[in-house]
Formats: sequence, structure tokens, C-alpha cells
Amino acid sequence: MAIIAGQAVRGKDYWDRPFILEDIIEVIERGEHILLVAPRRVGKTSLMYRIMDTVGDEYVVIYVNTQAAHSESQFWEKLFDALMDEDFIATLQQRARNFWNTLSSLRLSEVGSDGIKFGDSEAIDYEKAFEMLLKSYDGDKKLVIMMDEFSQTIENIIQYENVEKAEKLLEVHRELRQNHKLSQKSAFVYAGSIGLESVVANMKSSKDINDLVNIDVPPLEKGDAEKFILHLCLSNGMKIEESDIKYILEKIEWLIPFYIQLIIQELKRFDRRGVSISNQTIDDAIEKVLSYKKVFVHWLERLEIFKKEEKNFAKDVLNTISKEKSIVSTDLYNMANKYKLSDYDAQQIVHALKYDGYINNSDNEHIYRFNSPILRIWWYKNVAN
Ligand SMILES: Nc1ncnc2c1ncn2[C@@H]1O[C@H](COP(=O)(O)OP(=O)(O)O)[C@@H](O)[C@H]1O
Ligand SMILES: [Mg+2]
Repeated sequence: MAIIAGQAVRGKDYWDRPFILEDIIEVIERGEHILLVAPRRVGKTSLMYRIMDTVGDEYVVIYVNTQAAHSESQFWEKLFDALMDEDFIATLQQRARNFWNTLSSLRLSEVGSDGIKFGDSEAIDYEKAFEMLLKSYDGDKKLVIMMDEFSQTIENIIQYENVEKAEKLLEVHRELRQNHKLSQKSAFVYAGSIGLESVVANMKSSKDINDLVNIDVPPLEKGDAEKFILHLCLSNGMKIEESDIKYILEKIEWLIPFYIQLIIQELKRFDRRGVSISNQTIDDAIEKVLSYKKVFVHWLERLEIFKKEEKNFAKDVLNTISKEKSIVSTDLYNMANKYKLSDYDAQQIVHALKYDGYINNSDNEHIYRFNSPILRIWWYKNVAN
């Protein structure tokens, strides 16, 4: 197992998370569709690769990342691109295969913004073409279509096109899922780093996603994280004591594999120089990790989705928690007055912060804290001051 901090991991570099995988398969088998939402770098893409690699014999799995799509038609182009998968095409009935061959011989960039045009025939719009393909999919295996960064795509469409187009895309997907025939043969997995719920909160679209089954990607359990650290160290030729592992867990608290990888990566640098692991080197490693702006800055940038006063409020809340380590909910609502936000608005924002992985109130309903003490320290040093 290599130390990888950043890119999605695959194969022997993936630390197995069997329960999440089983949860997902259960939902797919039940004929339902999935919303896989967790903050950035929690391991969604790796998990989807894992699905591909483990159930690839039982399902035809298609993975597509639509993050770079800035318009509705770009979204469909990316999806069609991903469907150029041989396993998929091989199962299509003749008519659809002909259609598909024509489609793939066209360069997708030549496809007009209104849809796909074949010779003299009328242009078919993307949804229709997609529906037609799925309907003519004739394989014995269920088709699993995973759309990574889907909520980002919706946000992009709102930003670069308009809300109506985003609403339409969500509606079309809902219709596809409601089509019993299609649903029997295919399962959709929508993944996103940002809560699709918070994206659609200001749109008319809640009804278009509430049939999806939410699956989260939680941090590792303590025991599992201990084993992961030990395994990662051993497979990279590093010695580590149990007490050091405990110390790392204490420091990270929010046990996502990414933070573990980052710290072990730094410890490996010490190790190469003959410095063995101790509380001191662990502290130094964390200090080093905190100096990597690109590891954390997206947490700040993410607040841009809020409108001005909401954003200022959210920032103020996070700044305060980063200083005080926690905030009581009554203080939080008092703070909202300063920004002329109603209790309801404030509640929505706090909900979004919680949902998007910044804060939690799991120990005490009335007290909010950062999930990650490391992010708290980064925030305190780089945003609050
Ligand atoms: N199961 C795992 N085993 C080992 N490392 C993981 C695992 N899941 C996530 N990671 C770590 O987290 C980082 C980000 O993973 P990724 O799948 O890209 O997350 P996301 O798609 O949620 O942003 C990886 O580079 C790796 O360091
Ligand atoms: Mg990802």
C-alpha cells in the first residue's frame, strides 16, 4: 500500500471499507438510486473505483466525473462519452447499436447544443437519446451509472447557464428514475462533495431528489483507523509504536483516511532522514501539513455559494468556533441578528455547514464544534486572523 494523499486511491492502495460497499450494493439490488454525499477528500471517488473493481463482474459499471461540465449539454456529452464503454455497447440491441455507432463516429464536440442530429432526421435531444439507449440496453447485468461531482455540475449550470436549466436536469433525472422499465435495468449513483440538498434548497427541486437513498462516507472508526495507520506504516518500511498511533488519532480526531495519509507522508520524510516517530515528530508533521494551503483552502472557497450576508455570517460562525473551540446555539442565533438574518435563515446556514462537513453538534445538541481540529487550527491561523 503506497502513501497517497490527494488522488483517488485504487487497488492495493485502497483501505477496505466493506460496510459502505455492502450498503451501496444493497440499495442497488433493491432497485433504488443513491446520493453519495460527503465533503471533499473523504474518499468518494476511491469508493466508486472500488465498486467498479469489485462488482464489475456482476454489473456493468459506468463511471463519469461531470465536474468540468458547465452546461446542461456538456453534462450529457460527458455522460455519452462515458457510455462509449465496450461492455455496455456490446449489450445493445441492433437498432440502438447502429444509433450508437453513428453517435460515436461523430465527434461529440460537433453535436449541436439542441441535441444530436442524424442525417436528415430531426434532432433528438439528449434526454431522449439517453432514455432510448437505456431502454435498448439488453444485458443480463444491471447497469450502474455513477456520476461523480454531480452537485458541482448542478451548481455550475446555475452559475453559467440558469436555474431553470439546472431544475430541468434534475427533473429529467427524476423522470428517468421513475420509469419502472429503466429502473429495473439500471441504478444511478450521484456523488458530490457538496450537499445536493443545500444546492437545491433555493430551487424548486427538493422533490426531484427526495427519492434518492442517502449514503454517507463517514470517517474511519478508531479501531479501523489504528489498523490502517499500522498497515500503511509497515508497508512503507516504517516502524510505529502503538502509543504513537494513539497520539495521531487524538490529534486528528476526524479520522478521514486523507488526513492520516498526509501525516504518514510527512513522517516518511522524517523516517528517510533517520528520525523515528515520536510525539514531537507527529506534532511537526501536523505543523507541516497545516502549511499546505491547497489542502484546506477549498473549505474557505466553498462559502462562496452563500449570498453576501449569509457568507459573512457563516464566516463569523466558523471564525468564532475556531477561536473558542465551540459555540452555543443561542450565541449563534444572536450573531445572526448582526447580519439581519432570520432564525430560519441562520438555521439553514448552520445546517449546510453541518451537512457539508465543517461542524457538528453530535456530543451536545446545543454546542457546535469543528469536525476536524486540524481544520480548526488552519482556520484560526489563516481565516480568523
Ligand atoms: N479507502 C481509502 N484508503 C486509503 N486512502 C483513502 C481511502 N479513501 C480516501 N483516501 C485518501 O483520501 C484522498 C482523497 O480520496 P478521494 O477518493 O479522491 O476523495 P473524494 O472523492 O471524496 O474527494 C486520497 O488521496 C487518499 O489519501
Ligand atoms: Mg472525488
